[in-house]
Amino acid sequence: MLISCSNNHPVAASAADTSGAGRKWWKEAVVYQIYPRSFKDDNGDGIGDLKGIISKLDYIKSLGVNVVWLNPIYSSPNDDNGYDISDYRNIMKDFGTMADFDTLLSEMHRRNIRLVMDLVVNHTSDEHPWFQQSRSSRTNPYRNYYHWWNAERGKPTPRWSFFDVNSDAWKYDSLTKAYYLHYFSRKQPDLNWENPTVRREVDDIMKFWLDKGIDGFRMDAFQFVAKDTTWPVFPPGYEKDINRYYGMGPHLHDYLQEMNREVISKYDIMTVAEGAGSTLEDAHALVDPDRHELSMAYSFEGINLGHGSPDYSLLDFKKVYSKWDSAFAEKGWLSIFLANHDQPRMVSHWGNDSPAFRAVSSKMLTTFIMTMRGTPYYYNGDEIGMRNIRFDKIEDYRDIATINKYKEVQHKGGDLKAFLQEQQQTSRDNSRTPFQWDSTTNAGFTTGTPWIEVNPDYTSVNASAQENDPQSILNYFRHAVQLRKDNLVLVYGQYTLLDKDNPDVYAYTREGYGKTMLILLNFRAHPATVGPDVDLSHASLQLNNYPDAPSSDTLRPYEARVYEIMPD
Ligand code: GLC
Ligand code: CA
Repeated sequence: MLISCSNNHPVAASAADTSGAGRKWWKEAVVYQIYPRSFKDDNGDGIGDLKGIISKLDYIKSLGVNVVWLNPIYSSPNDDNGYDISDYRNIMKDFGTMADFDTLLSEMHRRNIRLVMDLVVNHTSDEHPWFQQSRSSRTNPYRNYYHWWNAERGKPTPRWSFFDVNSDAWKYDSLTKAYYLHYFSRKQPDLNWENPTVRREVDDIMKFWLDKGIDGFRMDAFQFVAKDTTWPVFPPGYEKDINRYYGMGPHLHDYLQEMNREVISKYDIMTVAEGAGSTLEDAHALVDPDRHELSMAYSFEGINLGHGSPDYSLLDFKKVYSKWDSAFAEKGWLSIFLANHDQPRMVSHWGNDSPAFRAVSSKMLTTFIMTMRGTPYYYNGDEIGMRNIRFDKIEDYRDIATINKYKEVQHKGGDLKAFLQEQQQTSRDNSRTPFQWDSTTNAGFTTGTPWIEVNPDYTSVNASAQENDPQSILNYFRHAVQLRKDNLVLVYGQYTLLDKDNPDVYAYTREGYGKTMLILLNFRAHPATVGPDVDLSHASLQLNNYPDAPSSDTLRPYEARVYEIMPD
């Protein structure tokens, strides 16, 4: 399937840049995202852990990826699976110890894999000592670490909460007769970034981990950290577009520039904020290198298409990715991803997870991610084509987002059946089921009882079954990663959309570093043709997701082809 493959050379940040300045290791990286709770359980308690990850480092290395982004592993009461942190300088008991962490980091570095950690500082856990202090009295020195609204002022200005059972981001606390703000769950009170002492605390937390040698941060929910504390009233329906109303708050860029000055600029790291505001200008401002803020933007406009359902319009998909590419053609840098721990499975959302097309459509989507400009982020399990588990009862779910929304629908007398049906496509738990290593009990994830059910398809969908099959999704992923690493044109080269109005095929070229690559992706379960602006006369096939080479210009269902265009 990989038709030609040059030598495996390491990604070198120091190599000469034929197109001028701007080469960076994090632009040339392939990021592999690990959800630690579900990756590999070492001690049999049913929960993935750091020792489990360590035991799989050779597998991770074998993928060819060179950066790992680890979802939060800090001490946490786990209201939101680690996104509610009670101690930023310690490891969650379920996951192991700081000694395990130190081993993990050094074993990763020994294999030339860098580590990016999740930085969750829009909020803490309500069990964090800062919040315990803050809520204890109105005059406590930590009071101002969070946002409080004293009850004698009446009800606070409405704000919408992601995980609250009433969608209400203000929670009344009778101890001091005041409301505190929580954009996420009640156990995730929002930190007050307007307080400079809080920002100094965050700097210190970052330095603590950077001084251990980690290679960057993914900054959780970051577009919400800065708040307009005059608490303006928004028009009805504001909750449908909270990003526009209160994403990217007044001083967000000041805070980032300050953080860059105090911390980021002192290390060779990559930084990426979750979300990129609601306009291209917002996104640009985050990552324009002249502004000294972050490395790259992680925009949701693409991932939000289709709302988790495969019934999205390919024309819209092409439009969004082309728009973002052109907006960042000269300056700044993007992330390319089709899944993460907050999304359904890649193949279930963007491809076709039926037995006939699961493999071929997974490979096609992988081809897209590995041939676009921007740094690819690939979510663990997608490399073996894991699919949505589609729970049919609420008791199977573990995610606070699904559980609390269910309660809200129930409370309002809504249609619970319809809600559960929709969750089968959209719930975050679809991508949080245990990694399927092999066909033994619990997919080889744990010898105990897994914290969330294993997808019963593991007997056929697992890494071990794919390891030695040259045609497997897993080995295709490895080839696609290698192709990107071998061809800087796929990292930096100019992107041009072809056959723009084709509703079935995504076709584009990448040009630069003395090469032109042509990528053809059929997003449909039926054969599809390409328009006259796609010229295959000098095209030499480099990668194809079918075992037998194409015999015509017509693309087979979900076919992906990467060609190099040879000079006349
Ligand atoms: C981000 C995380 C998500 C988490 C939320 C609150 O969106 O990706 O998993 O629930 O922030 O921290
Ligand atoms: Ca464990």
